Amino acid sequence: MVFSKEINGKLYQRYLGKSLPKANYTKLRDINDGYIGAGMEDVFEPAIRVVHADGNPSLDLRFTKVETKKVEGDITQTDIYLKDPVYQTEVILHFKAAFNANVLTSSTEIINKEKNSITVNNYASSMLHFDATNYYLTQFHGDYAREMDIQESQLTSGIKIIDSKLGSRTNMYQTPVFFLSPNQSSTENDGEVIAGTIAWTGNFQFLFEVDRSNKLRIISGINPYASTLTMKAGEHFITPEFVFTYSATGKGQASRNLHNWARKYGVLDGNKSRMILLNNWEATHVKFDQEKLVELFDGSKKLGLDLFLLDDGWFGNKYPRNDDKTGLGDWQEDRKKLPDGMGYLVKEATKKGIKFGIWLEPEMINPKSELYEKHPEWVLKLPNRAESYQRNQLILDLINPNVQDFIFDLVDKMMTENPDLAYIKWDNNRFMTNPYSPYLGKDQSRMFIDYTESFYKIMQRIRAKYPHLPIMLCSGGGGRTDYGALKYFDSFWPSDNTDAAERVFIQWGYSQFFPSNTISSHVTSMGKQTLKFRTDVAMMSKLGYDISVDKMTPEEINFSSAAVANYGRLNKVIWFGDLYRLVSPYDEERAVLMYADSAKNKAVLFSYNLFLRKKQIFGKVKLQGLDAGKEYIIKEINLVPGVTAESPEDGKVYSGSYLMNIGLNISPAKLRPLSSIVLEITSR
Ligand code: DGJ
Repeated sequence: MVFSKEINGKLYQRYLGKSLPKANYTKLRDINDGYIGAGMEDVFEPAIRVVHADGNPSLDLRFTKVETKKVEGDITQTDIYLKDPVYQTEVILHFKAAFNANVLTSSTEIINKEKNSITVNNYASSMLHFDATNYYLTQFHGDYAREMDIQESQLTSGIKIIDSKLGSRTNMYQTPVFFLSPNQSSTENDGEVIAGTIAWTGNFQFLFEVDRSNKLRIISGINPYASTLTMKAGEHFITPEFVFTYSATGKGQASRNLHNWARKYGVLDGNKSRMILLNNWEATHVKFDQEKLVELFDGSKKLGLDLFLLDDGWFGNKYPRNDDKTGLGDWQEDRKKLPDGMGYLVKEATKKGIKFGIWLEPEMINPKSELYEKHPEWVLKLPNRAESYQRNQLILDLINPNVQDFIFDLVDKMMTENPDLAYIKWDNNRFMTNPYSPYLGKDQSRMFIDYTESFYKIMQRIRAKYPHLPIMLCSGGGGRTDYGALKYFDSFWPSDNTDAAERVFIQWGYSQFFPSNTISSHVTSMGKQTLKFRTDVAMMSKLGYDISVDKMTPEEINFSSAAVANYGRLNKVIWFGDLYRLVSPYDEERAVLMYADSAKNKAVLFSYNLFLRKKQIFGKVKLQGLDAGKEYIIKEINLVPGVTAESPEDGKVYSGSYLMNIGLNISPAKLRPLSSIVLEITSR
């Protein structure tokens, strides 16, 4: 990415693309203002709009200086300072380049050095310019239980916006990620593409504008909707980071860049291993007691798992949590269900050689709760209007410092009383409607931003005391999936839709932007597929279980514990290896993907046959990421006991060159719908 300072003091974005030798810089002719202020000559969408204290609604940004410094790891930070020559408004564009991953982040710092307050209506994290014939946008649309549906469209003149105004559970309809391909639509391995995402757990906006000369500008940041900033004299405002990468060889490389960056810089403990857990949500919902739970612990043991995760329904006494109508906010153990408390469960789990984790939904409250009776003023709700519920619940006013203390204390008390508590699932089951912060009172202009920042403040306090406690980010499925939150969370729950055939698509979608060790994928009883299919699908990401182990047959237990052992042997490749998506379920009635370790010694391939026609025929699949000169042995794993290998390639030996240029016939000739093959590929 090349910027230049012009004689007139303007900052131009001259180039964005493949690495370019410096000798070419003086020849770059594109003139695109780096960060456009509203109210001057440019009549298209601005990056920033400021109204000065005297009412002047314009911002003229001129370059003052640039500074470069090494920060963490291989990251170099470049700060470009801009200033209005007349008004004391300064803007610093912060770029961080993670060289090895090929990922840039950009955020904007706005400083009001005027004597009085200024109003800032727009404040993008990033403004990017393109000059191409056509532009292809890929967006990831969703809803409850159908997250990350991939849609591509060609941009037309004018503005297209992808955004959220939901406040919390922000990504319920749109995940804050996109691909943009100039000229031609890019494929997995071909074509130019930018992958972008915003590290912000709140309202976001990506705006794509094709102007009168067919140039494209992409403006990314917090959604300015209902969020005008009034900045006092001396105040600084720093936007969240826009994270992006460029690939000249398609979306696959763009994903690998983001995965590498994320594991190193974007996700809590991204380079560390994860525990494999048994959750009880789909098996029991809120109907359990401590005897039942202790029995269920045996399931974790039988399958060879690390942890038991107790989900919703364990709390509340005056208003016990026996359905979703009551109890949120009353985080005391239900004395009927758990007479001996959480300590007992932690102890019993430890005795059985597993760890214990717990579900929380700390930002929420049911009106039927003791907390509500005590603190009706702690709730986000409009004055003079009826309360507006989703799942019978309201959102706490996180902006209120007392609420922040309440949530921190909840986690802290639980951890202090149960130091062996090893895991938290942090849920968030509704978005904002009729929001109003009683704490903020009359001026609600920062309500959306302050909510997200308050959420981060709480997480920072938790992380200061419990830096490595694994916490799964969940939001009624994948309603909260972004790199702003993932700094504090080590994985997320992608969807309550755990039907394995559906999960192929949902996990495929998330894999475009998030590394596999963040995408929690549980084997459940949803869907009608075989246990093998369900297991193989969950194994492509961060494996877990949410199933009644006590209802499984001995054969199913044998199969599952062997699969867990396979996963234990191969998880380093799956979590930290390079992902190659070989056949998309959007192109064929199957999905094939593989992970290869960086030494090119080990790879794992997953192949899922979906809703096949009677005489469906599939071609060979060319592998990627191997060493052309090495020989590899192919072994089919995750076999159902008593069933011999099905893949015609089992036991065969090929060179990397053969595998990458000719490819494998992965599945048997007689194909079954909703069947799967997992191949372990090892160099000799
Ligand atoms: C929504 C989550 O996505 C589920 O996994 C489960 O934890 C329920 N909430 C519990 O209420």
